[in-house]
Amino acid sequence: MYALANRGWSRWLPWAVMTIVVVGWTGASMIQSKPPDKPANPLKPEKPKPAEPPVSSYDQISPALLGQVGFADMKAKDLAGKAAIEARQKKLLDERYDLTAHPSADAKMTRGKPISVGPTAKLPADQTWEKLAEMSPDDVKTNDLFPKGFLPLPHPHHEAGGMLFPQAEVKLLPRLERFDLDFDLPEQFLPEFPPAIFLTTRKDLGDVSQGKVLTVDNFHEIFDGILNAKDLEGVRLLVTQFPQQQFNATADRKTDKPEGKLGVACFDCHVNGHTSGATHLAGDIRPQSHRRRIDTPSLRGVYIQRLFGSQRALKTIEDFTEFEQRAAYFDGDQVSAAAKGINPLERGSQVHFMSEVQELLDFPPAPGLGLDGKLDPKKFKEDSPEMRGQKLFFGKAACASCHPAPFYTDNLMHDLKVERFYKTQTHNGLVATAQGPIKTFPLRGVKESPPYFHDGRLLTLEDTVEFFNLILETKLTAEEKKDLVTFLIAL
Ligand code: HEC
Ligand code: HEC
Repeated sequence: MYALANRGWSRWLPWAVMTIVVVGWTGASMIQSKPPDKPANPLKPEKPKPAEPPVSSYDQISPALLGQVGFADMKAKDLAGKAAIEARQKKLLDERYDLTAHPSADAKMTRGKPISVGPTAKLPADQTWEKLAEMSPDDVKTNDLFPKGFLPLPHPHHEAGGMLFPQAEVKLLPRLERFDLDFDLPEQFLPEFPPAIFLTTRKDLGDVSQGKVLTVDNFHEIFDGILNAKDLEGVRLLVTQFPQQQFNATADRKTDKPEGKLGVACFDCHVNGHTSGATHLAGDIRPQSHRRRIDTPSLRGVYIQRLFGSQRALKTIEDFTEFEQRAAYFDGDQVSAAAKGINPLERGSQVHFMSEVQELLDFPPAPGLGLDGKLDPKKFKEDSPEMRGQKLFFGKAACASCHPAPFYTDNLMHDLKVERFYKTQTHNGLVATAQGPIKTFPLRGVKESPPYFHDGRLLTLEDTVEFFNLILETKLTAEEKKDLVTFLIAL
């Protein structure tokens, strides 16, 4: 692949520049990424061996940005490789999931999109969910029996990475089209588009989206008279495009023409303050093969949350707002960011305005819940599937220790140690290995934000229940799993 071939170049160049600069500097051996076998003589720095350039933290800087290759050449090579890359991902998805649409007859998202019924993850040959649940994590691992759909999911083109938007969104906003890659997951496993908008401050209004996608062209007419002037300015900034790694004016971009396509807006991914399911790679991991795919989380209900980012754990919404454009937009690579047009937001007059608006975004209504966030016993019979599911959630299924009411998050991170069930393995450029601690996402309104988990590997709520039944070794019956899903839909 072209992107791969280039990584050789881009890795080598800054490394070479760096080593030239430090030759003669007595600390040279300290910054080489491979430590020398014997203690270095500080007066005689070791000569680097150029035959094998080390993996570099600067490997995102592309030759197109450095003028080594022209836009037309880069695009031609990307286009030539596109079909093979997409076929590779389709094969992986087909191996892992049954992607047939099974829309629920009665469970719907706020604006009417039916929820997909799973599980979608395929079982290994001769297995059932019940048989798997009887096995120890060690046995599952040794015999390679963990369902592949429960493994970390690679980005549609993991080696290239970058922001990628679902087709329905690209259709409406063609400026978000990448010529090198199309989104991989089918429509039925994505949130409704456009999603509803609920404000904590104006609950009386219900959904204020007017069924539209909030953009720089319509935000004023949608929010004028509902928000104050400061928050209107916050929305303006959230729907304004700013340069990003794949969407910018330089030759190193993945959009056709730079005119009018100078970047992305926060609400391109967090559409209407929720999510379109747009995907990306976590910026703060190297090498590329270890970076996690990350599915855009909803911003609904960030006001009750204390940690932001699945693994980054920034402590305030203000910090995350600032961090997105400074680091995440550019893969944690401030060198390319400087060249492509970084947009540092001013803390007092911009970050706060944008954050305040995010703090007003509410979860969708859950009419079945009482003041304590649990099912209202006046509305559900003791033996209803919802009540049975709630009892399991707080009891045998062991969900509530990490997802307590009323918002169904403990605002912590947990290491589920999923790697107890699989050997380290590589799929389409992603090394699936230990994932470490991940944020406990809240489950209020969870029916509206498939696919699930930080990387979107679980396509339906049924998949999340099967997944946790193995991880927590709770041995739920088929009936119990159904009740649990019914409860999750009521949240
Ligand atoms: C790729 C499209 C994309 C764009 C554009 C984008 N985000 Fe995000 N956002 C994400 C993803 C993916 C995450 C999850 C990050 C992680 O898990 O580390 C995220 C996380 C967040 C979070 C933390 C949410 C949580 O539940 O932990 C906040 C807050 C946020 N973004 C705000 C913004 C703001 C403000 C902007 C504009 C400055 C923005 N985002 C632009 C995709 C995007
Ligand atoms: C040990 C703590 C823990 C327990 C117990 C637990 N969860 Fe979670 N849950 C998490 C964490 C952490 C995540 C995020 C994982 C990720 O993104 O990789 C999560 C994510 C989820 C998600 C996806 C949320 C989203 O927006 O993507 C669902 C649904 C969920 N859990 C349901 C359950 C259910 C149902 C149970 C009980 C059967 C349960 N959880 C038990 C910690 C836990």
